[in-house]
Amino acid sequence: MTATETNAAPLPHPTFSPGPRALERTPAAWTAEPYTRFTVQPMSPTIGAVIDGVSMADDLDDEMFGQLDQALLEWKVLFFRGQDVTGDQHRDFAARWGALESHPFIGLRDDQPAGKPEVVRFEKGPDLGGYENTWHSDVSWRANPSLGSILRAVEVPAVGGDTLWADMGAAYDGLPDHVKERIDGLVAVHDWITTFGLAMDAATRDGLRPDFPAVEHPVVRTHPETGRRTLYVNQAFTQHIVGLPADESLELLEYLYAQAAVPEYQCRHHWQPGDVAFWDNRATQHYASSDYFPSRRVMERITVIGDRPF
Ligand SMILES: [Fe+2]
Repeated sequence: MTATETNAAPLPHPTFSPGPRALERTPAAWTAEPYTRFTVQPMSPTIGAVIDGVSMADDLDDEMFGQLDQALLEWKVLFFRGQDVTGDQHRDFAARWGALESHPFIGLRDDQPAGKPEVVRFEKGPDLGGYENTWHSDVSWRANPSLGSILRAVEVPAVGGDTLWADMGAAYDGLPDHVKERIDGLVAVHDWITTFGLAMDAATRDGLRPDFPAVEHPVVRTHPETGRRTLYVNQAFTQHIVGLPADESLELLEYLYAQAAVPEYQCRHHWQPGDVAFWDNRATQHYASSDYFPSRRVMERITVIGDRPF
């Protein structure tokens, strides 16, 4: 079937699928070394694990880095408790995974030195409610979106403010075969204009446009390290599927977006100060529950730049 035909089979209900779900944590060819430097406490069958025995303030030797990197690929979201780190320590830990990103639209940590604009600060409270309560993969509107994000809780509400993550490899696996065939080879446009852009005046938007054009990514990307097929459209930044009529693109995207909301693909974390989550943006989407207004919730994030999706 070509991308422009409109007589596609009706989509099934996006999330109504009673009965057991086949959930694979890793690709079939996955081989793993045992974890000897820390303990791994799974939070769900496929996604999320609490790591005990790692201090982000310490230098990561090669063995520790290798085991953490394997754990990130296997569990997609790693949680570390009680990490009291400086901005520099946070940055040094993240930099083991690659070049760090400067976010053009989010404010910085107060003590961030000039020239090192990598620690972005999310500060929500009576003056500003949380707005990350939409499923997304960080900065998918960039040509080279994020490999991973490392988020540290500074101040959290007593109740609420949880973050949820969804395993988009498991979500892809769970699609009916005819949907997999239909989306195979499709490409979607991603853009920041309908999220961050809405909060800007037109002159600011126009000024940023040349540096941050809309980009195209495959609807199903291949994870560059695990080789796993992963659903890579999200309701925050994906605009439309290239070559489809608008109504068909919207219907298909809404069906695909809804997969992130399936509980069997998810894990959920309730934050304590000093908690750190490190997630693989190539394999997951996340959603910050905005249920704590007007309480304060302050988080600091560093994002590692990733590959161009293929
Ligand atoms: Fe995010």
